[in-house]
Amino acid sequence: MNNQEWWKKSVVYQIYPKSFNDTNGDGIGDIPGIIEKLDYLKELGVDVLWLSPVYDSPQEDNGYDIRNYRQVDDLFGNMEDLERLLEEAHKRDLKLVMDLVVNHTSDEHPWFVESSKSKDNPYRDYYIWKDGKENGEPPTNWNSVFGGPAWEYDETTGQYYLHIFAKKQPDLNWENPNLREDVYDMMKFWLDKGMDGFRMDVINFISKDPEYQDGENGDGSPYFMNGPRVHEFLQEMNQEVLSNYDVMTVGEMPGASPEDAKRYTDPENEELNMIFTFEHMDLDSNGDKWNWTDLNLVDLKENFEKWQTSLHGVGWNSLYWNNHDQPRIVSRFGDDGEYRVKSAKMLAICLHMMQGTPYIYQGEELGMTNVNFETLEEYRDIELLNMYKEKKEKGWSHEDLMKAIYVKGRDNARTPMQWNDKENGGFTNGTPWLQVNPNYREINAERALEDKNSVFYFYQQLIRLRKEMDMITDGRFELLMREDPNVFAYKRVGDEGSLLVVCNFSSEEVTLDDGIVKEIEGKPVVITNETESTHRRGLAPFEGTVYRL
Ligand code: NOJ
Repeated sequence: MNNQEWWKKSVVYQIYPKSFNDTNGDGIGDIPGIIEKLDYLKELGVDVLWLSPVYDSPQEDNGYDIRNYRQVDDLFGNMEDLERLLEEAHKRDLKLVMDLVVNHTSDEHPWFVESSKSKDNPYRDYYIWKDGKENGEPPTNWNSVFGGPAWEYDETTGQYYLHIFAKKQPDLNWENPNLREDVYDMMKFWLDKGMDGFRMDVINFISKDPEYQDGENGDGSPYFMNGPRVHEFLQEMNQEVLSNYDVMTVGEMPGASPEDAKRYTDPENEELNMIFTFEHMDLDSNGDKWNWTDLNLVDLKENFEKWQTSLHGVGWNSLYWNNHDQPRIVSRFGDDGEYRVKSAKMLAICLHMMQGTPYIYQGEELGMTNVNFETLEEYRDIELLNMYKEKKEKGWSHEDLMKAIYVKGRDNARTPMQWNDKENGGFTNGTPWLQVNPNYREINAERALEDKNSVFYFYQQLIRLRKEMDMITDGRFELLMREDPNVFAYKRVGDEGSLLVVCNFSSEEVTLDDGIVKEIEGKPVVITNETESTHRRGLAPFEGTVYRL
């Protein structure tokens, strides 16, 4: 690892600004609110902050629809606030990473406004315009990720434009070198201000298969994920921009396999530092995420093993359980009732002892849980609202739909941060844009900071360990007890010794293999969520313990 690879030793904390901390009483989190909490984040021990989009936007998809890449949305403050945030973060030795959303813009972006004016407008080719099929249907049968067709007909010019996401998020045309240059200029604008890198939104969607053919059952993903020119575009971006700065990059990449990931993250290819895989997040659904099933732990273990071993010594992994698109992990793979604290810590151990850069999503360090709002009207997310409408028409019952929303809806992650037990969890003095989870009286940062056994201090300890023990960053991964349905056990084998990690994903006491029992005998415990019962053949419910071999 060289100095330029600081991101290999870093832990990243994701901030979803809208839900983090409101200082002006409009019910929406803002940049001054983030500044106010920098000392809290420093106390946690993270190294890098990733900000979900704060750019000027009509907020159709909470800022992932950008109208002006070089302006801060009034909702969050202004450019001076953002510069002050950067300065205050740097003062505390925290790095700041921006969200880069360049697969699409808002339809209110001036490029799109121009592009829609006429077929010969200089910006026409900044987006993907096509004629309909002979019968007038859209150019392909692709469905958009947020429901309905991925093409929208435009009366003025008689053509369709592509939008993989919402209608108000037209896809940019990366085939156009002028567009690419404009994007690179904009990236330089932010890096020249001193930003420390980018998280790149669905960046493996930027190259589309030029054939524009129909997909099976409307699924266009084989034709827009990991497309023919994606590596070329990323190499060009690296050459023109990234390689000139000391920054980190992480590409969000649905549909990327470990083989793809190797290509994207092998330093020799000069593309990105790491990517976000979706594979482990898709294991509890039957194709469609709303068609959820229980997790089979054996599948999860196999999946992590695949990513940990394929990228070892070649590329680099990112490690995450949570972000603003995923339900809360303690409600998902843990237990948000009796064992909430215990299982939150176990899940933290399981992830943070692996190789890669860990990401903590706001509230994860408190063991925040999913929310069950009574009515659909209390929800805000475009994805779940569209899904409700579409599936209701297809005959799903209201009860089944609400259940799916409780389990998988993105608003689970987006309820405001719970800072204390005062009104609205201390998030705002106004009316929150999305209701606070009613459990804020029990689960909140103030309480966590007063309790030395809190999930917060457990994350703090894990972050510290990563700094102290090189084998966490460098060691090889070896899966143990492969077929066991409840135990996730693995070794990290480093140059100066090994770690053995045992995690119980169930609320029952389970038994470790003889081999493990022998290996851990008399060995020191590095970290555990148990008070006294380590070193036993049995693992207590949701126990997570790490031994130094
Ligand atoms: C992925 C982002 O994480 C998600 O929130 C957004 O809706 C889509 N990309 C579209 O930008």
